[in-house]
Amino acid sequence: MTYLPDNSNCRNGERNIKKEIEKIRNEINKDQYYLHCQYVMGVLAVKVKIIGEQLESKYNREVIQNVSQRIKTPESIYAKMKRKNLKPEFTLAKTKLNDLIGIRIVCLFVDDVYEIVKMLKEQKDLTLIKEKDYIAKPKKSGYMSLHLIMGVPVCIDNKMETKTVEIQIRTTAMDFWSVLEYQLLYKKNVKGADKIGKELKEYSEEIASLDRKMLKLRNRIDAI
Ligand code: GTP
Ligand code: MG
Repeated sequence: MTYLPDNSNCRNGERNIKKEIEKIRNEINKDQYYLHCQYVMGVLAVKVKIIGEQLESKYNREVIQNVSQRIKTPESIYAKMKRKNLKPEFTLAKTKLNDLIGIRIVCLFVDDVYEIVKMLKEQKDLTLIKEKDYIAKPKKSGYMSLHLIMGVPVCIDNKMETKTVEIQIRTTAMDFWSVLEYQLLYKKNVKGADKIGKELKEYSEEIASLDRKMLKLRNRIDAI
């Protein structure tokens, strides 16, 4: 007789996870949540477009290179709630997670990051909830970016509501590193992760140094 390991518990576990994720998905749909998120992202997209155009005419060069937005998936909401030791329920996630709506602004130079941040903070209708400067103080992984958690007021069903958004602002070089690192290592159980992580951290330092050199070069050219 062949011995087959009894993994019915494991399968039950997987089934339960799928069920809980489906529950989050249903609640999201019931709530018109995606529509409301699109509303918020639309408001922010216009704001960022205006900021980009103002900076472009001020400096006579392209400043914001790319803007992307995303809504956290039910799978990701489930995983993050579990990581935080919270019940993986959508109603709770809405109050506990700051990054259900995410916007990423990619610009060319490091000083552009701070200028964009300054202009975002000056928007009278937005409120700053939290600021994390991973450029001044990169994460242990080497990750660099500036994060703003901001409150965006929207009028839904004739009621004013504030939606929380995570805005990530970074240079093209930082973006290159973080997209690669995310794909290769971030929150993955990779064999030999320590060694790979160390190498990636070194590359992040090289990228930071390149960003500084590019900024110096631009300032030299501006002074001519
Ligand atoms: P998350 O649970 O990852 O959302 O982190 P957090 O809520 O503690 O906030 P934090 O500011 O640390 O990170 C928010 C986001 O920044 C993440 O969802 C990623 O998009 C990005 N990020 C943070 N750390 C890293 C990192 O080490 N590598 C990469 N590639 N991205 C990172
Ligand atoms: Mg996140």
